[in-house]
Amino acid sequence: MRVLPRTKFGNPILRKKAKSVPVKTIRMPSFQRLINQMFFTMKWIGVGLAAPQIGKSIQSAVIEVKPIRLRPNVVPFPKTVIVNPKITQYSKKQILDWEGCLSLPGVRGMVPRAESIKVKYLDEKGKPHSETIKGFPARVFQHEIDHLNGLVYVDRMKDMKTLMTESEYKERVLKKK
Ligand code: NI
Repeated sequence: MRVLPRTKFGNPILRKKAKSVPVKTIRMPSFQRLINQMFFTMKWIGVGLAAPQIGKSIQSAVIEVKPIRLRPNVVPFPKTVIVNPKITQYSKKQILDWEGCLSLPGVRGMVPRAESIKVKYLDEKGKPHSETIKGFPARVFQHEIDHLNGLVYVDRMKDMKTLMTESEYKERVLKKK
């Protein structure tokens, strides 16, 4: 399996609202292959990847949280495919935490996100889900669903002065945690 080429900030596809995926398409082998390649592409380097990030403007993203280099202490969240997701409710409480993005390599910034969300989506079998997601996974869902609506995390930042390179982040933030 190969790592898919990734689109980067500046590519207009990251600024488009992605098209919804018909249920019959989800069950096609070509879609299943795409999902597997997306998981493979984000392995070890990310916690989520949205289809526009690999050049496909469709409402699909993959999520899997496990400890990585820049986030050694996260609680794992299992492999999840979200198709045509809709966030139906946001908690009033917001949390400020660091985010990065595979489409903007080498940089991180602090982003406020709702602490918990209610989300509806279809999984890789086309089965509908309606779930409440809390904590760090809720952040990942919000980040990936933003990608499907043409938004990137810097759009959500309140303090652009927190934007920093990964090496400065390792030095100034990670070592102090
Ligand atoms: Ni991203």
